[in-house]
Amino acid sequence: MPKAIISPSLLSCDFARMADESHKVIAAGADWLHIDVMDGHFVPNLTFGAPVLSCLRPHVPDAFFDVHLMVTNPKDYLAPMQKAGANMFTFHVEACADAADAASVCEEARGMNMRVGLAIKPGTAADAVYDACDKGLVDMVLVMTVEPGFGGQKFNPDVLGKVAAVRARYPNMDIQVDGGLSASTIDAAAAAGANVIVAGSSVFGSDDWASAIEVLRTGVEKAQASSA
Ligand code: DX5
Ligand code: ZN
Repeated sequence: MPKAIISPSLLSCDFARMADESHKVIAAGADWLHIDVMDGHFVPNLTFGAPVLSCLRPHVPDAFFDVHLMVTNPKDYLAPMQKAGANMFTFHVEACADAADAASVCEEARGMNMRVGLAIKPGTAADAVYDACDKGLVDMVLVMTVEPGFGGQKFNPDVLGKVAAVRARYPNMDIQVDGGLSASTIDAAAAAGANVIVAGSSVFGSDDWASAIEVLRTGVEKAQASSA
């Protein structure tokens, strides 16, 4: 079973102190840093892109950059993201013309030594990722548990059937959930089969980041132990 990975979302950190916040959250137990790139077009919000990531990289040379691209033209971001030090290149299937287009972005990302994540919004069926996954081009499926665009939204349990379907079809796949994950929602997400947990507000908004991270990790580990 793929191991629990906790990826706090820098969307909820103090952007003016991104390097310090990154150090602090890694010291608190974060496995990855989740980095939300929004283009103001695919989603109605604008964050930052490769230039900011390039500035962050030297401050945290060993951190795993789990980049979640909420952008209209994912292909255009491949080279800049690789250069900026992205480790995981996660893009939305809804931004692709068709399955062949999505598969070609996956292939290119792999060719650039990035791991590949394929994301689906709450309204997109799980089978939208099957073609690329069946071709062995995907390292992680991201099932959004909120509409992408903003932190601090309410977790949508209706999407967990998709998590379970992807887990049943790909027992060893990393499955990420993103949006509204906290102590009160982790058990449902983990029981459905998620093992990579993104959390923005529940970590950065807590007084004790280490325990907020630990609660999420324990949630995944408990669910895995009881399903084994
Ligand atoms: C939303 C982003 C998330 C966001 C999650 O579009 O993809 O990564 O930071 O934030 P919380 O955990 O606050 O819902
Ligand atoms: Zn995200």
